[in-house]
Amino acid sequence: MRKALQGLVPYKVKPEFDMIRLDNNEAFMSLLSSVDLGNLQETLIHRYPAESSEALVNAYGRFSGFPIDNIIAGNGSDELITIIAQYFLDPGDVVFVLEPDFSMYEKNAVVMGAEVNRISLNDDFSLPLEKLMAEIETRKPKLLFLSNPNNPTGQFYPEAEIEELISALRQVGGVLILDEAYIDFAGESPFAKKVFQHENLILLRTASKAMGMAALRLGFLIANDQIIEGISCIKPPYNVNTVSAQIGTQLLENPNVLDQFLLVQLNQVAELEEILNEFVRKIVGAKLFPSHTNFFLIKMNDAKALADFLYERKIKIRFFNEDVLKAVRISAGTKEEHAKLRTALNEWSEMYAKRI
Ligand SMILES: Cc1ncc(COP(=O)(O)O)c(C=O)c1O
Repeated sequence: MRKALQGLVPYKVKPEFDMIRLDNNEAFMSLLSSVDLGNLQETLIHRYPAESSEALVNAYGRFSGFPIDNIIAGNGSDELITIIAQYFLDPGDVVFVLEPDFSMYEKNAVVMGAEVNRISLNDDFSLPLEKLMAEIETRKPKLLFLSNPNNPTGQFYPEAEIEELISALRQVGGVLILDEAYIDFAGESPFAKKVFQHENLILLRTASKAMGMAALRLGFLIANDQIIEGISCIKPPYNVNTVSAQIGTQLLENPNVLDQFLLVQLNQVAELEEILNEFVRKIVGAKLFPSHTNFFLIKMNDAKALADFLYERKIKIRFFNEDVLKAVRISAGTKEEHAKLRTALNEWSEMYAKRI
C-alpha cells in the first residue's frame, strides 16, 4: 500500500431494505414507472457503450442548457471528483476543503498524495471569506473543492463570495470545483450562465438527488474547452454503463416529469422543516439550520443517542459525533415516512422532557 493511503477508512454502506432511509439525501421515490423499459430490449449489451453515453450527454445538454462539448458524463459525480483529482494533483500539491463538507473531496486528494488543508466554516456555517482569501494567497492551493449548497449544512453561499474565491484562486493558478449536487432545490445556479467566462472553474452536477437516479450513478462535469480537453485525456472511455445512460436519457428527455418530481420533493422538504421545527422547540440547545437542499441539519448534544433511538424504530438518519459538529442530518421522505418520524421524535422529546 502507498504511504499516502495510510489512515484511510472504508466508506461504509450497509444495505438496509427494511429501514426508512433518511440518511443519504436521496430522493424518496423512483421515477422508473415513467421509463419505457421496452426500449431497453434494444440495448446492445454486447457492445461498449459509446452511443448511449453520447445520447446521455446530448439529453443533459438539452435539459440543462450547457453546450454538449462542455459536458463530461461520469459514473456518478463521485467518479468525476476522482478524475479531477487525478488530472490536477501531483504529490505534495495543496488542496483546500471546507469543514464540514462532502468527504470524498478530501479522500480523493489524499489518494493522490496531496496535502489537504481543512478550513472550518464559521459557526453559522457561512464561508470564512477573509481567512480563505488569506490562506489562498499564502498556501497557493491547486484545487478548492466546495459543495454549494453545502452537504451537510444545507447552506447556500452568496454568488459574490464564490466569485471572490474564483478570482483569488486564479491569481495563484488554482481551480475551484463547485459541486452543485443540490442546486435544483436551491433554484438557478448563478454560475450556470458564466461558467465558461472563468478559466479556473469546474461545475459538478448529479442525477442522484433531485432527479432521483442515485442507483444509476450519473454525474456531469461542466467546464471550459481547455479543461474538458485535458480531463478527456484521462477519463476512462466507457465509464457510464449503457443501461444507466438509456434510462437517464429517457428521463432527461421528459423534463415535465422531472419538474413535477422536484415540486413533490420541495413539498416534502417543507413538511420535514415543519416537523423538525416543532421538534427542536422542545429540545434545549438544539438548533435547526435553514436549508436549500432536500435535508436539514440539527445541531444538538445528543445527536448519536437520537440517531440510535430512531434506528431502533427503523428510521435511519445521519449523525455527526465529532466535537466540532454534534449534529444529525435528516433527508426528506414520503408523507408516511414523515408521519413515522414525527411520532418517533415526539416519543424522544417526551422522554427528554422527563430527564431534564
Ligand atoms: C455534495 C455531494 N457531491 C457529490 C455527491 C455524490 O453524488 P453521486 O451520486 O453523483 O456520486 C454527493 C452525495 O451525497 C454529495 O452530497
